[in-house]
Amino acid sequence: EKGGYPHFMLKEIVEQPGCIHDCMRGRINIEGSNVVLSAVIDYKEKLLNAKRFIIVACGTSWHAGLIGKHLIESFCRIPVEVEYASEFRYRDPVINSDDVIIAISQSGETADTLAAIELAKSKGAFIYGICNAVGSSIPRATHTGSYIHVGPEIGVASTKAFTGQVTVLTMLALTLAKEKGTITQNDFLSIVKELNMIPEKMKKVLELNSKIAELSKIFTYAHNFIYLGRGYSYPVALEGALKLKEISYIHAEGYPAAEMKHGPIALIDAEMPVVVIATHNGLYEKVLSNIQEIKARKGKVIALVTEGDTYISNIADYCIELPETIECLDPLITTVPLQLLAYHIAVCKGMDVDQPRNLAKSVTVE
Ligand code: F6R
Repeated sequence: EKGGYPHFMLKEIVEQPGCIHDCMRGRINIEGSNVVLSAVIDYKEKLLNAKRFIIVACGTSWHAGLIGKHLIESFCRIPVEVEYASEFRYRDPVINSDDVIIAISQSGETADTLAAIELAKSKGAFIYGICNAVGSSIPRATHTGSYIHVGPEIGVASTKAFTGQVTVLTMLALTLAKEKGTITQNDFLSIVKELNMIPEKMKKVLELNSKIAELSKIFTYAHNFIYLGRGYSYPVALEGALKLKEISYIHAEGYPAAEMKHGPIALIDAEMPVVVIATHNGLYEKVLSNIQEIKARKGKVIALVTEGDTYISNIADYCIELPETIECLDPLITTVPLQLLAYHIAVCKGMDVDQPRNLAKSVTVE
């Protein structure tokens, strides 16, 4: 049932191009000229009149939520807050009836996320769910929502569900922005066109598998890792670090690159591998200078760069070259090599990647 792969996790990483395709099927037309999420059309008034969105989630789904905030705020100009469900539910949070809650959960069974939904519902908020497991508890507790349709995820560390969540959030932001009139037709079309090309580009990223496996051997016995990114890449840095922690038991921290100088830079020495997401998009120049700061302290830099990059490949110790896409879709490309890096390091260490210690697939306790 692992389809010839040694682990479910690798199978699920490799499946991602097909999963993203399935996630978009029937929602984006072939010509790439329109995106329709039926839940948005059915509840247009509620969603368009929202004063604020509050995203509630845990773990990897919370990281997807951070990307969702960036997408919705940029395209729709609606304020978005992203909350850990476990904090939100115990804080007596301010919730109004014109707030829309977006609950993100792969399993649809996470106890804290479910409790956050019930709390928000009791305050009159409208609840939109983004889940994978069809018919699970969260979709049943929400007013509407969208399934991510990536198929069952068996590996405990979430991979394809994350990229599926990000894809749904992208389609949600685009559909809302179009309805609201906060995006130009040109921008809308160019993003949809590029979104349609993501599965093909992900396939190219997967061709780097053996190169990343080789790289992993160099870092198998590292005790710590730092992951850095800015803008859309900051949540990807958090996600890359979480993947490594979960399955290889190496301590890893994800940080927004510019926060380094406010503390974590003290950790950098020749023993510290630093993974930097440094694609051509966004704050490339700034990330470049962040890399120089790390090199000046002898840190080992593994940089994710855009194909053809010349500056960073000269300074970084190791480079992973990725196909170019537009800034808001970068996470769908940059997440994949970080999943592979965590996977191969854990395999080199001889760890049980599908069933890491102390973790369960659905966290139904608080
Ligand atoms: C990380 C991971 C967990 C889950 C979290 C939420 O790889 O799998 O952090 O993301 O427990 O689970 P769901 O999305 O099922 O609510």
